[in-house]
Amino acid sequence: MELIFATHNQHKTEEAREIAASFIQIKNLKDIGCFEEIPETADTLPGNALQKARYVQEHFHVNCFADDTGLEVEVLDGRPGVYSARYAGEHCSYQDNVDKLLREMKGMTNRRACFKTVIALILDGKEYLFEGRVDGRIIEDQRGMSGFGYDPVFLPDGFDRTFAEMSEEEKNSISHRGRAIRKMMDFLKNHKNI
Ligand code: IMP
Repeated sequence: MELIFATHNQHKTEEAREIAASFIQIKNLKDIGCFEEIPETADTLPGNALQKARYVQEHFHVNCFADDTGLEVEVLDGRPGVYSARYAGEHCSYQDNVDKLLREMKGMTNRRACFKTVIALILDGKEYLFEGRVDGRIIEDQRGMSGFGYDPVFLPDGFDRTFAEMSEEEKNSISHRGRAIRKMMDFLKNHKNI
């Protein structure tokens, strides 16, 4: 079976491919010739995930899924949350976002945070949602070179390495998106028509 991941993000594509292994062939937007920026204007994670998946389904008529992820920091009342990508401004870099987060949390002792991912799957015209979450804390200085986004400052509970210090495989085994994708894979494995 082939499934389109409605993303331009190569890191996310590789993560999903690693989890899907040989069961499902994951393609991304580039593979179907979609180079436009997909609107992401909802104010919730499920809203954005559905918006992206519906856009691809309507324009390309394919079975597809989209994800939306937010980093929720306890002491910041859940920010940056659904605005994690643009936390430091409209065209900011991953580093700008990390810098802003570390600035805002300077001196704070409560460093609790979690990543949440919502995946919207559209299969034969029907919509399904899957969620994944990982809890941890934001460290004071960045560590590691792998991954992307807030990975260098996120220390998952039970580990002494940040996501950016882990291999892709190890991050996938505990991450928010890894958990959500595995839920979707389990659903697909049990789905009659596949
Ligand atoms: P997106 O809208 O799902 O792409 O996620 C929003 C933002 O959250 C991204 O721009 C990243 O800054 C951050 N993010 C998403 N997934 C991850 C992850 O696995 N690790 C670290 N940061 C992430």
